[in-house]
Amino acid sequence: MEKVKIALTKGRLAEESIKVFEAIGLKFSAYKEDSRKLILPSDCGRYEIILVKALDVATYVENGAADIGIAGKDTLLEANANVFELVDLGFGKCHFAVAGQGGFDLNRAIKLSVATKYPRVATQFFQEKGKQIETIKLNGSVELAPLVGLSDVIVDIVETGRTLKENGLEVIESMYSISARLVVNKAGYKTKSETLQPFVGQVKEAVSVTKG
Ligand code: PRP
Repeated sequence: MEKVKIALTKGRLAEESIKVFEAIGLKFSAYKEDSRKLILPSDCGRYEIILVKALDVATYVENGAADIGIAGKDTLLEANANVFELVDLGFGKCHFAVAGQGGFDLNRAIKLSVATKYPRVATQFFQEKGKQIETIKLNGSVELAPLVGLSDVIVDIVETGRTLKENGLEVIESMYSISARLVVNKAGYKTKSETLQPFVGQVKEAVSVTKG
Protein backbone atom coordinates (compact mmCIF):
# COMPACT_ATOMS: atom_id res chain seq x y z
CA MET A 1 0.00 0.00 0.00
CA GLU A 2 1.21 3.53 -0.83
CA LYS A 3 2.47 5.44 2.19
CA VAL A 4 0.62 8.51 3.43
CA LYS A 5 3.01 11.47 3.20
CA ILE A 6 2.80 14.26 5.76
CA ALA A 7 4.68 17.52 5.11
CA LEU A 8 5.96 19.20 8.26
CA THR A 9 8.35 22.02 9.10
CA LYS A 10 11.29 21.10 11.30
CA GLY A 11 11.27 22.61 14.78
CA ARG A 12 8.44 23.34 17.16
CA LEU A 13 5.63 22.79 14.68
CA ALA A 14 6.94 19.32 13.81
CA GLU A 15 7.44 18.45 17.47
CA GLU A 16 3.93 19.54 18.45
CA SER A 17 2.50 17.69 15.43
CA ILE A 18 4.32 14.50 16.36
CA LYS A 19 2.82 14.74 19.87
CA VAL A 20 -0.65 14.85 18.29
CA PHE A 21 0.20 11.83 16.12
CA GLU A 22 1.41 9.95 19.19
CA ALA A 23 -1.89 10.71 20.89
CA ILE A 24 -3.64 8.81 18.09
CA GLY A 25 -1.17 5.91 18.25
CA LEU A 26 1.07 6.94 15.34
CA LYS A 27 4.73 6.94 16.36
CA PHE A 28 7.71 8.48 14.57
CA SER A 29 10.74 7.24 16.54
CA ALA A 30 12.91 8.25 13.53
CA TYR A 31 12.26 11.99 14.17
CA LYS A 32 15.28 13.48 15.93
CA GLU A 33 16.01 17.20 16.31
CA ASP A 34 19.65 16.85 15.19
CA SER A 35 19.07 14.56 12.22
CA ARG A 36 19.50 15.85 8.66
CA LYS A 37 17.17 13.27 7.16
CA LEU A 38 14.27 14.71 5.19
CA ILE A 39 12.08 11.62 4.92
CA LEU A 40 11.12 9.83 8.13
CA PRO A 41 8.97 6.69 8.22
CA SER A 42 6.46 6.00 10.97
CA ASP A 43 7.16 2.99 13.19
CA CYS A 44 4.23 1.17 11.56
CA GLY A 45 5.63 1.89 8.09
CA ARG A 46 2.33 3.19 6.68
CA TYR A 47 3.07 6.91 7.04
CA GLU A 48 6.04 9.09 6.16
CA ILE A 49 6.96 12.59 7.32
CA ILE A 50 8.68 14.82 4.78
CA LEU A 51 10.45 17.87 6.22
CA VAL A 52 10.05 21.05 4.16
CA LYS A 53 10.31 24.82 4.61
CA ALA A 54 7.22 26.45 6.15
CA LEU A 55 6.14 28.31 3.01
CA ASP A 56 6.54 25.15 0.92
CA VAL A 57 4.16 22.93 2.95
CA ALA A 58 1.16 24.17 0.94
CA THR A 59 3.01 23.67 -2.36
CA TYR A 60 3.79 20.02 -1.61
CA VAL A 61 0.20 19.36 -0.55
CA GLU A 62 -1.40 21.27 -3.43
CA ASN A 63 0.65 19.27 -5.93
CA GLY A 64 -0.03 15.94 -4.23
CA ALA A 65 3.62 15.30 -3.36
CA ALA A 66 2.33 15.20 0.22
CA ASP A 67 -1.18 14.02 1.15
CA ILE A 68 -1.31 16.04 4.35
CA GLY A 69 0.55 19.08 5.66
CA ILE A 70 0.78 21.04 8.87
CA ALA A 71 1.73 24.70 8.70
CA GLY A 72 1.00 28.03 10.33
CA LYS A 73 -2.00 29.97 9.04
CA ASP A 74 0.46 32.76 8.19
CA THR A 75 2.30 30.71 5.57
CA LEU A 76 -0.94 29.18 4.28
CA LEU A 77 -2.44 32.63 3.72
CA GLU A 78 0.69 33.79 1.93
CA ALA A 79 0.92 30.67 -0.24
CA ASN A 80 -2.82 30.89 -1.09
CA ALA A 81 -2.77 27.21 -2.05
CA ASN A 82 -5.74 25.26 -3.32
CA VAL A 83 -5.97 22.73 -0.47
CA PHE A 84 -8.54 21.70 2.11
CA GLU A 85 -7.84 23.30 5.50
CA LEU A 86 -9.51 20.85 7.87
CA VAL A 87 -8.20 21.20 11.43
CA ASP A 88 -7.11 24.09 13.64
CA LEU A 89 -4.53 22.34 15.80
CA GLY A 90 -4.51 25.05 18.44
CA PHE A 91 -0.73 25.35 18.80
CA GLY A 92 1.73 27.75 17.17
CA LYS A 93 -0.44 30.67 18.24
CA CYS A 94 0.54 34.20 17.29
CA HIS A 95 -0.96 37.04 15.27
CA PHE A 96 -0.32 39.15 12.21
CA ALA A 97 0.17 42.83 12.88
CA VAL A 98 1.10 46.07 11.23
CA ALA A 99 3.93 47.49 13.35
CA GLY A 100 6.10 50.55 13.29
CA GLN A 101 7.54 53.35 15.31
CA GLY A 102 5.35 54.71 18.11
CA GLY A 103 2.50 56.91 17.01
CA PHE A 104 2.99 56.28 13.29
CA ASP A 105 -0.20 57.28 11.46
CA LEU A 106 -1.06 54.81 8.70
CA ASN A 107 -2.94 57.54 6.85
CA ARG A 108 0.08 59.82 6.78
CA ALA A 109 1.64 58.39 3.63
CA ILE A 110 -0.33 58.43 0.37
CA LYS A 111 1.37 55.20 -0.62
CA LEU A 112 2.54 53.37 2.46
CA SER A 113 5.72 51.31 2.13
CA VAL A 114 5.45 48.00 3.97
CA ALA A 115 8.38 45.64 4.56
CA THR A 116 7.31 42.05 5.06
CA LYS A 117 7.94 38.37 4.56
CA TYR A 118 4.24 38.19 3.58
CA PRO A 119 3.61 40.58 0.63
CA ARG A 120 0.41 38.84 -0.42
CA VAL A 121 -1.13 39.03 3.06
CA ALA A 122 -0.08 42.66 3.45
CA THR A 123 -1.42 43.71 0.03
CA GLN A 124 -4.76 42.01 0.61
CA PHE A 125 -5.16 43.48 4.10
CA PHE A 126 -4.60 47.04 2.94
CA GLN A 127 -6.61 46.53 -0.27
CA GLU A 128 -9.63 45.64 1.86
CA LYS A 129 -9.14 48.96 3.65
CA GLY A 130 -8.94 50.74 0.31
CA LYS A 131 -5.32 51.68 0.88
CA GLN A 132 -2.59 51.37 -1.71
CA ILE A 133 0.76 50.10 -0.50
CA GLU A 134 4.17 49.31 -1.86
CA THR A 135 5.53 46.04 -0.47
CA ILE A 136 9.20 45.42 0.12
CA LYS A 137 9.83 41.69 0.36
CA LEU A 138 12.30 40.70 3.05
CA ASN A 139 13.34 37.24 4.22
CA GLY A 140 13.86 37.96 7.92
CA SER A 141 14.84 40.61 10.51
CA VAL A 142 11.90 42.60 9.17
CA GLU A 143 11.85 44.85 12.26
CA LEU A 144 14.98 46.54 10.96
CA ALA A 145 13.25 48.08 7.95
CA PRO A 146 11.45 51.05 9.59
CA LEU A 147 14.47 51.69 11.82
CA VAL A 148 16.83 52.27 8.90
CA GLY A 149 14.34 53.99 6.58
CA LEU A 150 13.69 51.07 4.24
CA SER A 151 9.93 51.18 4.90
CA ASP A 152 7.26 53.12 6.80
CA VAL A 153 5.95 50.06 8.64
CA ILE A 154 6.15 46.26 8.68
CA VAL A 155 3.59 43.46 8.45
CA ASP A 156 4.83 40.50 10.44
CA ILE A 157 3.87 37.86 12.94
CA VAL A 158 4.03 38.74 16.62
CA GLU A 159 4.28 36.00 19.18
CA THR A 160 5.57 37.30 22.50
CA GLY A 161 6.10 40.86 21.24
CA ARG A 162 9.71 40.75 22.40
CA THR A 163 11.30 41.44 19.01
CA LEU A 164 9.15 44.55 18.52
CA LYS A 165 9.81 45.79 22.05
CA GLU A 166 13.58 45.29 21.92
CA ASN A 167 13.70 47.24 18.67
CA GLY A 168 11.54 50.12 19.86
CA LEU A 169 8.56 49.26 17.64
CA GLU A 170 4.92 48.74 18.51
CA VAL A 171 1.80 47.18 17.08
CA ILE A 172 -0.12 49.83 15.13
CA GLU A 173 -2.92 47.53 14.06
CA SER A 174 -3.65 43.90 14.84
CA MET A 175 -4.63 41.92 11.73
CA TYR A 176 -5.41 38.19 12.13
CA SER A 177 -4.94 35.40 14.67
CA ILE A 178 -2.69 32.57 13.58
CA SER A 179 -2.29 28.95 14.64
CA ALA A 180 -1.13 25.70 13.08
CA ARG A 181 -3.56 24.14 10.60
CA LEU A 182 -3.80 20.70 9.03
CA VAL A 183 -4.29 20.81 5.27
CA VAL A 184 -5.06 18.00 2.86
CA ASN A 185 -4.65 17.53 -0.89
CA LYS A 186 -8.09 17.98 -2.47
CA ALA A 187 -8.02 15.06 -4.92
CA GLY A 188 -6.31 12.77 -2.40
CA TYR A 189 -9.00 13.44 0.19
CA LYS A 190 -11.42 11.68 -2.16
CA THR A 191 -9.21 9.01 -3.77
CA LYS A 192 -7.56 8.05 -0.47
CA SER A 193 -10.64 8.72 1.63
CA GLU A 194 -10.43 5.35 3.42
CA THR A 195 -7.14 6.35 5.02
CA LEU A 196 -7.25 10.15 5.09
CA GLN A 197 -10.75 10.75 6.40
CA PRO A 198 -10.37 8.56 9.54
CA PHE A 199 -6.90 10.06 10.11
CA VAL A 200 -8.29 13.61 10.00
CA GLY A 201 -11.17 12.56 12.26
CA GLN A 202 -8.79 11.13 14.84
CA VAL A 203 -6.59 14.23 14.76
CA LYS A 204 -9.67 16.46 15.25
CA GLU A 205 -10.71 14.40 18.23
CA ALA A 206 -7.23 14.38 19.80
CA VAL A 207 -6.99 18.14 19.38
CA SER A 208 -10.43 18.79 20.88
CA VAL A 209 -9.46 16.69 23.93
CA THR A 210 -6.25 18.75 24.35
CA LYS A 211 -8.14 22.02 23.91
CA GLY A 212 -10.64 20.78 26.51
C1 PRP B 1 9.60 35.87 13.77
C2 PRP B 1 8.85 37.10 13.32
C3 PRP B 1 9.26 38.14 14.32
C4 PRP B 1 9.42 37.32 15.59
C5 PRP B 1 8.20 37.46 16.45
O1 PRP B 1 10.88 35.93 13.31
O2 PRP B 1 9.17 37.44 11.98
O3 PRP B 1 10.47 38.74 13.95
O4 PRP B 1 9.55 35.94 15.20
O5 PRP B 1 8.35 36.78 17.68
P1 PRP B 1 8.24 37.53 19.08
O6 PRP B 1 7.01 38.38 19.04
O7 PRP B 1 8.11 36.39 20.07
O8 PRP B 1 9.48 38.33 19.30
P2 PRP B 1 11.85 34.67 13.27
O9 PRP B 1 12.20 34.24 14.64
O10 PRP B 1 11.24 33.63 12.41
O11 PRP B 1 13.17 35.26 12.61
P3 PRP B 1 13.43 36.06 11.27
O12 PRP B 1 13.45 37.49 11.64
O13 PRP B 1 14.76 35.59 10.80
O14 PRP B 1 12.34 35.73 10.28
